[in-house]
Amino acid sequence: MHIDSDLIKKHLETKAFGKKIICLESVGSTNTYLKSLKNIENGTLVTAAYQTEGRGRRGHSFWSPQGGIYMSLACVPSACSFNAGLITTCAALSVCKAIEKLTDLKPKIKWINDIFLNGKKVCGILCETVFTPNTGEIDYVVIGIGVNVAATVFPDELKPIATAILNECEKDISKNELIAEILNSLEKDIQYIYSAEFLNDVRTRSLGLGREITVTTQNGRFLAKAVDIDSSGGLIVKVGENTQTLSSGIVSIEI
Ligand code: BTN
Repeated sequence: MHIDSDLIKKHLETKAFGKKIICLESVGSTNTYLKSLKNIENGTLVTAAYQTEGRGRRGHSFWSPQGGIYMSLACVPSACSFNAGLITTCAALSVCKAIEKLTDLKPKIKWINDIFLNGKKVCGILCETVFTPNTGEIDYVVIGIGVNVAATVFPDELKPIATAILNECEKDISKNELIAEILNSLEKDIQYIYSAEFLNDVRTRSLGLGREITVTTQNGRFLAKAVDIDSSGGLIVKVGENTQTLSSGIVSIEI
């Protein structure tokens, strides 16, 4: 089934998110396309059936063939919180909840921007902040989400580490419904992003808490134990006897 704005809207329960939807067959990157638009309204959504230059964090590319969901949502300041780490965490939680609603799978968040199913990556998230020229104020945040939905033959380098929803369950889920459910969750979750309930929802889905991880920073790598997620979306780790909090954008972890 094609991604189609009317079919997405059929499942939407939102006020703003998805009010304006642009569905493209192919594009370099939905994040880049969204950022090229003028006068962006809160909740504008761009989707593509495939991307030719999908982008991931830290300048990595994101493999984006037919069969996946590639979507970018504009979120403006009055409508959402602007701690970039928390927005990414919120998007990750929404993707988990949407997959849980439509399947019997148990997705997990690998801090900070990946969703895993049965030990393999099924979704990546790239949030980008757009500033107003001259004032330097935040204009909006682009929440970019890529989900492997249909069973695909992955390139050799991705085979051991990536999966698709339909590789992990029998149920043939609708991409339009999944997109709508992600928006439904996201609009709700952003309202309670600073609450204990939000943090608890994130913690229960976090991969690797209590386990040894490898942290990679600009200055090198070190071993640590993942302990908890804090209220800003940071990852609290223990290195020997010292506790420190990792913030997004600076580090990555391997579990
Ligand atoms: C990552 O895994 O590092 C993040 C991947 C984010 C991919 C999504 S797909 C939709 C949007 N457009 C992009 O170019 N990237 C994001």
